[in-house]
Amino acid sequence: MSAKPNPRVTVTSLRKMKREAEKIAMLTAYDASFAKVLDDQGVDVVLVGDSLGMVIQGHDTTVPVSMDDMVYHTRAVTKMCQRALVIGDLPFMSYTSPDLALRNSARLMQDGGAHMVKLEGGAPQVATVSQLAHHGVPVCAHLGLQPQSVHKLGGYRVQGRDEAVARQMLDDAKALQDAGADLLVLECVPVTLAEQITQALEIPTIGIGAGRECDGQVLVLHDMLGISPRAPKFSHDFIGSGATIAQAVTAYVQAVKAGTFPEDQHCFF
Ligand code: KIV
Repeated sequence: MSAKPNPRVTVTSLRKMKREAEKIAMLTAYDASFAKVLDDQGVDVVLVGDSLGMVIQGHDTTVPVSMDDMVYHTRAVTKMCQRALVIGDLPFMSYTSPDLALRNSARLMQDGGAHMVKLEGGAPQVATVSQLAHHGVPVCAHLGLQPQSVHKLGGYRVQGRDEAVARQMLDDAKALQDAGADLLVLECVPVTLAEQITQALEIPTIGIGAGRECDGQVLVLHDMLGISPRAPKFSHDFIGSGATIAQAVTAYVQAVKAGTFPEDQHCFF
């Protein structure tokens, strides 16, 4: 008798994980082979991030990534994920209006097979999130450091140390949830602010450089496998010496679930 496959992770099971304090393990993937390893090792959510512009295409930023690139890589990943929920990233300039966001989300979901889309931004994206939610598109929002705005920000920096910016981020998080967002990535945010936002929301928060109190963690796959030329402070090399890729991914999932990753050295205070 063949084993029953694990049920797919959904927006409902992610909320249940938050309520039951089970940490959510998320990683990026951009191709079928890695997607299968992540799915097999119990990664709950696989993000086809526009970080592929940097780790796959060799650009300095995510800005040059196109919709065609995102659809191509999302399709490769979704083919191999039987349990994980797959998020397709909307790249720079692909969601400058609610209608454009809707058209491009349809491409990620219909051509790419994504189960959710992700976009960066706070208050200015509330109308877009509402439009997507209204049409049945699950949305992961993204606050804190927004890499698509790197040229406007003047570099990759921690966001929310200033009290007014922190207050705005909390308000934005609530507004995005109220507009229908299902998940919220917090990138490079001080630990106490990420904790405050996490406690204020019913939807799960996923931290990257945002401390242990988030409901889950995400890393760029190439950073946690130790093969990025410039791995950020908030990442950890899970492959160490001698582990296989599958063992490194298992170690990551176990560390996130146990709450032992991130450690203080990966956080901003
Ligand atoms: O593109 C990406 O991989 C991301 C993560 C860093 C959250 O947005």
